[in-house]
Amino acid sequence: MHEQIKNINTLDELSALYTATFGKNGTMTARLKEMKNMDNNARAALNLENQTLRELFKTRQAEIENAVLMAGLKKQKLDVSLNTSPENRGTLHPMTQSLIEISEILQSFGYTPHTGPEIEDDWHNFTALNTPDYHPARDMQDSFFLENGNVMRTQTSAIQIRTMEKTGAPIKMFGIGATYRKEMDATHAPMFGQIEGLYVNKNITMSDLIGDIRAFLKRFFEMDAVELRIRPSYFPFTDPSIEVDLKWKNGRWLEIMGAGMVHPNVLRNCGINPDQYQGFAFGFGWDRLAMLKYGLPDLRDFRGNDVRWLKSAGF
Ligand code: DAH
Repeated sequence: MHEQIKNINTLDELSALYTATFGKNGTMTARLKEMKNMDNNARAALNLENQTLRELFKTRQAEIENAVLMAGLKKQKLDVSLNTSPENRGTLHPMTQSLIEISEILQSFGYTPHTGPEIEDDWHNFTALNTPDYHPARDMQDSFFLENGNVMRTQTSAIQIRTMEKTGAPIKMFGIGATYRKEMDATHAPMFGQIEGLYVNKNITMSDLIGDIRAFLKRFFEMDAVELRIRPSYFPFTDPSIEVDLKWKNGRWLEIMGAGMVHPNVLRNCGINPDQYQGFAFGFGWDRLAMLKYGLPDLRDFRGNDVRWLKSAGF
């Protein structure tokens, strides 16, 4: 009987044998009825046998149930190594990533972000920036002029003017946005992103300017030490004007940005008294900064929006 139970493989057969053993007309049931006629030893033996059999049935039932379950699971098995159709996970464009980063750094220095229109009038793009009609500086940039005399903004410096006109001094802001010029090669695009910082307050000096530029470049390029070269330059809206070069990791000097002390005429044009307030400003192309950071040679790839290129460049 014990062997018989152990060899059963289906619940149906097991249940049939169980009934034949313990059911109303079962063999064990019949034997138990005879118990009263037995001596103590026989009675104890029968009790033991009764209990053992019940245990055996229980154990075998659990075994069969488990085997059935396992067989079922095997059939339903999920193949997690199976290839699915490829999903592209989107990422922020590297230009956007650097823009966010630059913007966060400047804000942590206390500069507040501002934007302005991309189609500018002559006043905000040139005249208020101390660049009158006859000024040769207008030839420095090949501008897209519209028929009505407006211009596609050539520099985010226009945002400085709009912001100063609105809020006066003191002010610590940065302008951010697209700018347009007629140029196109590996490092220039007709539309590019510019960022412009401006700080106007009492007793502002050139060393405040250089300090902020140094701190900014250190953070953005994640450099331990920043070596700068300050060259005299010319912009109509700053005086003195400088050009800032950064010593790159390979020892080469890279031109990074233009800057200077805000020209008194510019402050005056925005209703700020230059005898009370001084300011500094700096401006740079953020596309260019991003290219340098990621070591990319051609700006046009950056703006091409070709996902295959972006992936091959590791973005
Ligand atoms: N607007 C200049 C350009 O587009 C960049 C620039 C230079 C901005 C000096 C400034 C500055 O604010 O002080 O080339």
